[in-house]
Amino acid sequence: MIIGVLKEPAHEQRVALLPAEIGNLVKQNIQVSIQKDAGLSAFASNEEYEKAGAQLKSREEILSQSDVVFCINKLDNAEIDKLKNKAVLFGVFAPYDNVELIKYLQQKGITTFSMDIVPRTTRAQSMDVLSSMATVAGYKAVLTAATELPRFFPMFMTAAGTITPAKVLILGAGVAGLQAISTARRLGAVVEAFDVRSAVKEEVQSLGAKFVEVEGAKDDKAAGGYAVEQTEEFQQKQREAIHNAAIKSDVVICTAQIPGRKAPLLLLNSSLKEMKKGSVVIDLAASSGGNCESTKNNETIIHEGVKVIGNSFYASTIPSDASKMYGKNLMNFMKLLIKEGQLHLNFEDDIVAGTCVTHDGNITNERVKGLIK
Ligand code: NAI
Repeated sequence: MIIGVLKEPAHEQRVALLPAEIGNLVKQNIQVSIQKDAGLSAFASNEEYEKAGAQLKSREEILSQSDVVFCINKLDNAEIDKLKNKAVLFGVFAPYDNVELIKYLQQKGITTFSMDIVPRTTRAQSMDVLSSMATVAGYKAVLTAATELPRFFPMFMTAAGTITPAKVLILGAGVAGLQAISTARRLGAVVEAFDVRSAVKEEVQSLGAKFVEVEGAKDDKAAGGYAVEQTEEFQQKQREAIHNAAIKSDVVICTAQIPGRKAPLLLLNSSLKEMKKGSVVIDLAASSGGNCESTKNNETIIHEGVKVIGNSFYASTIPSDASKMYGKNLMNFMKLLIKEGQLHLNFEDDIVAGTCVTHDGNITNERVKGLIK
């Protein structure tokens, strides 16, 4: 069996597999091919891959010869055409937002696993790419805010007087939000956090932040730990609570998302207007519409003196560790699929079935099927 690892597009600095993971595959008699220069932006050289046992190949060779292809970003149709018959493709394809791509992969008979839909179960935690990348994003968002803010994060008592600590508000206390809380606390900020899932209150408090509470949230236990859309009345109360916390804050980190839907609008322009000039908003939900009314995806704007940074792509900015985490998640998933050096797809396994989007000329994911008009 040949596993091929592609170089990512120019805007991406991560790579799907680092040299450290290659040896384990080679030991199982699997041939690993790596596209030349694929690891350079994550600081892994061609020589390191070769030393680990991988073979350097061109993109054309990887696409046309590999039984299994590893990537992160999606491929275009012309490249899918070049894949080997019945190839098995692993990446992050956001299948609910890319139905046309999924239809194309189905028509071409490709088996597709989308690592962003690994089921959120305890057994699948070590394969959870979204959690890994959210950890990176939450951390980097706070560091970015700290460098953009015209003030210190920690309290300083100096001969020139006392500097009070910065106040940071985190909207959404999922994986990214919790990491943002820890990072902001480590830098000495005073942190408040808000989430519709009251289950996270204790976690927020244990990290040393205050939980901003709003009564009456719909907490859907059937949604697998995810948030569900809230009633208009609750959203109104929530916006008021967030407004009151935001106008006292120097930094707001927005992380609230609802999978497959537009991100909830939580921070209005009327709040930005009353925030201190020079405050910073980082919106990690920018790619799904943003939590802040002024957010523009992949842009930094100034609204009423507040800097609003719309960036859902921070994972790529810490490429070494983000690639390490992605590759580890992928290898943990492959342990379910590789037996004696060969691929055995056991669709009785809920993690394998839940992560698969296309197989044998069919779309296997019910939600994607429902999105096809
Ligand atoms: P996410 O990225 O989908 O959302 C981030 C946060 O925003 C969530 O905590 C969500 O409750 C919150 N949110 C959504 N709408 C909101 C609103 N209107 N106002 C305020 N907050 C709002 O979530 P993430 O971080 O990917 O995971 C969410 C949860 O899923 C985790 O905390 C955990 O319980 C579960 N999970 C389970 C895993 C496993 O068991 N393998 C792995 C990762 C997460």
